Amino acid sequence: MRAALKAAVGVLLASSAVPAFAGDVTSPDGRTVVTLDVDGDGVAFYRVTRDGKPLIADSDLGFLFTDAEPMRRNFTVEAETRATHDENWEQPWGERRFVRDHHNELSVTFREARDTSTRALTVRMRVFDDGIGFRYEFPESADMPVANIAEELTEFAIAPEAAADGKAWWIPGGDFNRYEYLYNETPIEEVGIAHTPITMRLADGTHLSFHEAALVDYSGMWLRRMEGSRFRAMLAPSSRGAKVVREGAFTTPWRTIRISDGPAGLVESDLELNLNEPNTLGDVSWVEPGKYIGIWWGMISNRWTWASGERHGATTERTKRYIDFAAEHGFRGVLVEGWNVGWDGNWFGNGRDYSFTEAYPDFDLKAVTDYARKKGVRLIGHHETGGNIKVYEDQLAAAMKLYGDLGVDWVKTGYVADAGGITSCNADIADPCVGDAEVFEWHDGQRQVQHHLRVLQEAAKNHVAVNAHEPVKDTGLRRTYPNWVAREGARGQEYNAWAPFANGPDHEPTLVYTRLLSGPMDYTPGVLGLVGDQDYPIASTLAKQLGLYLAIYSPIQMAADFPESLAAHPRELAFIKAVPADWSESRLIAGAVGDYAIFARKDRASEDWYVGGVNDATERNLTLDFDFLEEGRTYTAKVWKDGPNATYLTERRHDIAYDTVTVRKGDSYAVRLAPGGGLAMQLVPR
Ligand code: NOJ
Ligand code: CA
Repeated sequence: MRAALKAAVGVLLASSAVPAFAGDVTSPDGRTVVTLDVDGDGVAFYRVTRDGKPLIADSDLGFLFTDAEPMRRNFTVEAETRATHDENWEQPWGERRFVRDHHNELSVTFREARDTSTRALTVRMRVFDDGIGFRYEFPESADMPVANIAEELTEFAIAPEAAADGKAWWIPGGDFNRYEYLYNETPIEEVGIAHTPITMRLADGTHLSFHEAALVDYSGMWLRRMEGSRFRAMLAPSSRGAKVVREGAFTTPWRTIRISDGPAGLVESDLELNLNEPNTLGDVSWVEPGKYIGIWWGMISNRWTWASGERHGATTERTKRYIDFAAEHGFRGVLVEGWNVGWDGNWFGNGRDYSFTEAYPDFDLKAVTDYARKKGVRLIGHHETGGNIKVYEDQLAAAMKLYGDLGVDWVKTGYVADAGGITSCNADIADPCVGDAEVFEWHDGQRQVQHHLRVLQEAAKNHVAVNAHEPVKDTGLRRTYPNWVAREGARGQEYNAWAPFANGPDHEPTLVYTRLLSGPMDYTPGVLGLVGDQDYPIASTLAKQLGLYLAIYSPIQMAADFPESLAAHPRELAFIKAVPADWSESRLIAGAVGDYAIFARKDRASEDWYVGGVNDATERNLTLDFDFLEEGRTYTAKVWKDGPNATYLTERRHDIAYDTVTVRKGDSYAVRLAPGGGLAMQLVPR
């Protein structure tokens, strides 16, 4: 009914050339136009056109509550305000140093027109050249002092004519393994319930990514396909019944759609960062990007244990040897997992026995941090919680202070529990938190979202940076809290160690265009031995392990393999030592979603450029252009590439070739990417 009405109005407008609705807002380049309005039933909606063609059809806005009438119809437009913004801001660390925030804004206040209520809702819409973002702003309301949100009704109805023959890359939302799935590649009309970011490529080549920005004190949003190409928000559940509980005035996270003509625009967009609040931590020079090794692959590949006993990985002796290796090769940090009491027995989804301050007897925390300090290396802390945030929060202040005092300035946190298995406390029942008082939450529910910020703030007090595993997804909060340096939140390299679960060669060139749009990932590249548990072969060539440092951005990058294995590959180790973890510029110079991705990135600390990336299972011959180089300068390029016979399928995955060439802007370089292969180059000006 509404669609028909709108279509009729559209025809009318087109034929009589009446100017756009008052509720339109256009991107600075004029290509994207968003309309915010109410329909005949008083349902608030938005729609998006690109180059005059429908992209997002009329999509409803609204909410359901557990204890109040829905906010879904009977709205009238009460007021609108407009703004324009153009600013360059600087990142303390990142894929690029300067970010431009250029957008036009329209905010519309919708007022309920009913006898029983005077509730209002403002929708703030920002339109950029690379996409749109909008959020809801709830004012203080006498009619509804507490918003107990049962569901958010925000729709993303991709216009059927735009969606036809389009593809989507997505992982299931709400399933047990959180975000740790291999990506589905399906027609848009075959998506089920998906986590965001979800990536789509339309038949005309337009690339879209649906996600959110500034997820604070709210539940994470999944996207549920209603029918055809119409999606609706679905919030992660909560033990409280209402999925989100907020008192007084509040704003929701931004709902975002990246829009681009091709893959590079999608990957290079800073949309979500631009929608986050600026740094609130002040001087963050203590957040230092860098590379690290760790007592880790030994446990992942089942040779050592986190638990105490004969095969205990985290011993003082071994840690000192790792510190020696780090010092010799210039790694900033050494991660040590399993150093603290609580790993014996079943910690998965339990975490009741963890102490975050008490070490196992064969690990002397003070001695290793003293030793590290002398050698100019940092110990990297580890807080695995087994998903028990009650136990962790009780010790949080002491645990972070201990690390801060000892100069441990990065901590890896972990929440190993199935989705919906975060152990917390019922806020309405006083301590002790046992029996009925214990409740279970989601990794991306409101309670866990609050938890992550508590951890970040406590860490910041002690000048500690956080790398969360089994986290909530990234929504650009590193801008506001620059000590949130990385997270996992996808299938990492660790799966390659486990035969039946290994990531195939498609995984990384898919991650680049999906999960990585949300922010840095601690993927843990650099398994140069190319074997996992019981020498299970990793589906990667040697060159691809190096290419990962360019394809998967993180300000903290691991060289995940055993030191002996790293040392056994001196030429590859030389690349890992050289490659920066902090950039002044980053560009995708070649690639296609799910197929391959080659980046050019410029070192933040020098004039050097690095080029490289990853391939899927299909052999490819590429000609790379060096358009990004500075005019008139000559560079010596060292190349690590797949050997002529390399393939991930056999022992020839170890086949690597080296090259040194001279390049200038305007030159090109032909290179073959092996099946499951990759590439790495270092370009130093002469
Ligand atoms: C899973 C994490 O992804 C992994 O890196 C970590 O070693 C284990 N949990 C133990 O905390
Ligand atoms: Ca994990």
